[in-house]
Amino acid sequence: MSQNLIEKAFSRPVESYWIGTTPQTTYPELNENIKTDILIVGGGITGIAAAYLLQKEGLDVVIIDAGRIAHSTSGHTTAKITSLHSVKYAKLIKQLGEEGAGKYGEINEKAISMIEDIIKENNIQCDFSRQPNFVYTKEEQYINIIEEEVNAAKSIGLPARFETSLPLPFSVQGAICFDNQAQFHPRKYLLSLADIFIKNGGHIFENTAAIDIHEDRECTTSTRNGFSIKSDKVIVASHFPFYDGWGFYSARMFGERSYALAVKSPVNVPYGMYISYEQPTRSIRTQLGEDGNQLLILGGEHHKTGGNINEKEKYTKLINFAETDFHATDVLYRWSAQDYTAMNEIPYIGHITGKKMNIFVATGFQKWGMTTSHVSAMIIRDIIANGKSEAENIFKPSRFTPVSSAKNFIKENADVVNNLVSGKLESPPEEFKILPGEGKAVKYKGKKAGAYMDNDGNVFIIDTTCKHLGCEVNWNSAEKTWDCPCHASRYNYDGTVIEGPAIIPLDRLK
Ligand code: FES
Repeated sequence: MSQNLIEKAFSRPVESYWIGTTPQTTYPELNENIKTDILIVGGGITGIAAAYLLQKEGLDVVIIDAGRIAHSTSGHTTAKITSLHSVKYAKLIKQLGEEGAGKYGEINEKAISMIEDIIKENNIQCDFSRQPNFVYTKEEQYINIIEEEVNAAKSIGLPARFETSLPLPFSVQGAICFDNQAQFHPRKYLLSLADIFIKNGGHIFENTAAIDIHEDRECTTSTRNGFSIKSDKVIVASHFPFYDGWGFYSARMFGERSYALAVKSPVNVPYGMYISYEQPTRSIRTQLGEDGNQLLILGGEHHKTGGNINEKEKYTKLINFAETDFHATDVLYRWSAQDYTAMNEIPYIGHITGKKMNIFVATGFQKWGMTTSHVSAMIIRDIIANGKSEAENIFKPSRFTPVSSAKNFIKENADVVNNLVSGKLESPPEEFKILPGEGKAVKYKGKKAGAYMDNDGNVFIIDTTCKHLGCEVNWNSAEKTWDCPCHASRYNYDGTVIEGPAIIPLDRLK
């Protein structure tokens, strides 16, 4: 592998193509107590889409975001809009029957059309194009699974077909193809939609973290900067719900990170979006670069967040794939994303618990957030505006989950307990020696701590106990973050929260 390509890639800061090619937003911070019909906590794709739809219903809507809108998961995606969620429908038919699986597919297809309609109606320039989407295998042993999925999807009316010839620089044994799916530039779409929402009387407050919700006759949401927002309803669209409402989401979801690159390549991919069935996952799509030349967006190398993962190695493997298969000549951007998977792999969308009828949640989208965000927006809009949604029972957060699908969760939660216990039992490292740009676990005043030294020699020492439920965070050297292996909270090198469920920074040690 070319050392030059790797050096080029690592010489650039970690930044997603979507963020690097759009302006930073500058919405104000909340500085007073306010009242609204609907409060949406989280200005990602789910929050913005729900705000747009609810505003169309004549409701007064406010969005608050702990950081900047469209910047977290929505700014760190591969941005495929599709109802083909890897291999899903054969399993869904077994779980939900043909009718339930059909509804899942149908509402995802509706979400694709809805995004296209919103774009056309508002003349949004966001590189949207209809594309076929493929799940391929290079291995003969998986052909049966691919064929079974094609048949399952076809049987419930989805646009599936079996394909063996793809316009990729390697051959495959077979692929599921869904025609007429789509791709876009998610931030161009979301920043425009946010503008439209504001022009139509909506309000967005950035750097305004919600810390609690009190539900009485109305909901009162308090923010970290000391203000409160009264509303009839609250939608928790903060990726991992910052507020749980005794819904035990920490025990019902697990987080994974995956990695992506935007690369220059002489290999032309004329159409399509692709993802491998087998591991390590490889995701491929094109994007028209700002200079008018085709870029490739390549993704993969997912793993559970935290643990002893060498993130640099993950990027290096993807760069290797870019070079070997696509003869990549430059890596312009690299970034990582975090996704949560719900028990039985069906997202949680609807009332946060069976008892809290004015608080809604949308979470656990796995890696399919571009489409599932709009599925969520439609379901929640329909429940709020019309009292019900046709698909609400499929996605209901308080649904009964069969024991078979809980097995995975017993394992995931056993991992959490393991991390909690083993992290605490680990003896602290022997000595405190650190170099500029380095972060690691150290022994500090006789106890385990985390330390990072910046290039100016400033040292940041933090207590490595995660503020969510107390697991030990680990250093992520590629992104200079402290990551929690239990439920995937992430903190900056100085302990400030990047991503929840944690809402409080790590303790800084003097
Ligand atoms: Fe749950 Fe850290 S994210 S303990």
